[in-house]
Amino acid sequence: MEYRELGGTGEMVPEIGLGTWKYKGGPEPLQKGIELGATLIDTAEMYRTEDAVGAAIKGRRGQVFLATKVLGSNLRRDAVIRAAENSLRLLDDDVIDLYQIHWSNSGVPIAETMGAMEELVDRGVVRYIGVSNFSVAELKEAQRAMTKYPVVSNQVLYNLKRREIERDLIPYCVDNDITVIAYTPLADGSLAGRSRLLPDKRGSVLEQVAHEVSKTPAQVALNWCLSRPNVIVIPKSNSVARTVENCAASGWSLSPSQLATLEEAFPI
Ligand SMILES: NC(=O)c1ccc[n+]([C@@H]2O[C@H](COP(=O)([O-])OP(=O)(O)OC[C@H]3O[C@@H](n4cnc5c(N)ncnc54)[C@H](OP(=O)(O)O)[C@@H]3O)[C@@H](O)[C@H]2O)c1
Repeated sequence: MEYRELGGTGEMVPEIGLGTWKYKGGPEPLQKGIELGATLIDTAEMYRTEDAVGAAIKGRRGQVFLATKVLGSNLRRDAVIRAAENSLRLLDDDVIDLYQIHWSNSGVPIAETMGAMEELVDRGVVRYIGVSNFSVAELKEAQRAMTKYPVVSNQVLYNLKRREIERDLIPYCVDNDITVIAYTPLADGSLAGRSRLLPDKRGSVLEQVAHEVSKTPAQVALNWCLSRPNVIVIPKSNSVARTVENCAASGWSLSPSQLATLEEAFPI
């Protein structure tokens, strides 16, 4: 597993982490991922998987970088603090490595929310502050509202079929030392081969590149995301075998011509 720096923190995180939205695989897939170096685990109060994550990482916490999120409807100061405490109770832990705002909420002053996030860092229950689904404009507002700590990450939709963030968000994050955590990197499985592979020409291009590099379409789709600076991916799988497959998307690179072939088939 290759690692990338989280924001400008000096903390190294794996370029492939483990998503847990709709996760119901029991402890084994997450534990196998950790064993293979996919030690960043992403959950959220919304997912109702924090308890399953807590159970899976019992006895392995030292190896894990734990990321969770506060709902966009819980962004008043007291609600943020309560949500973090509740997440820690479900995770059965005493520190969240990365606490992310799941989505912005124009009904709450951003300074109040970011102040609460900074308070959690001061209390020692959160190590780093991130956001999710933030546009460049929202990111700038959040950064301006911080008084002590940086925004280290923005978790956003990114995969071969959804490349919009290449226009402005990725360049902004590169310039500002913000890690892009790419969610739904397999386009909910539609880039991941087997019967669910895209039925059109795009699917055959993905398969052809996969064949050339002796990898699976899922591995190519994930590795393609990693060809971008500052990007890490968090595929989700309920299966040990597919987790092993996804982890093997790290440690090699597509050639410039393979990247170009894919990008022509999957235009922005
Ligand atoms: N911040 C946000 O607003 C937000 C939104 C969406 C997602 N996320 C995060 O991002 C994570 C990943 O996104 P996602 O779950 O939406 O979608 P995804 O990772 O793109 O796709 C997951 C789907 O792909 C299948 N799959 C995984 N690996 C596979 C493989 N190697 N071969 C074939 N099928 C495979 C999974 O099935 P099996 O489980 O059966 O393997 C599942 O149906 C989430 O779990 C969550 O942590 C965040």
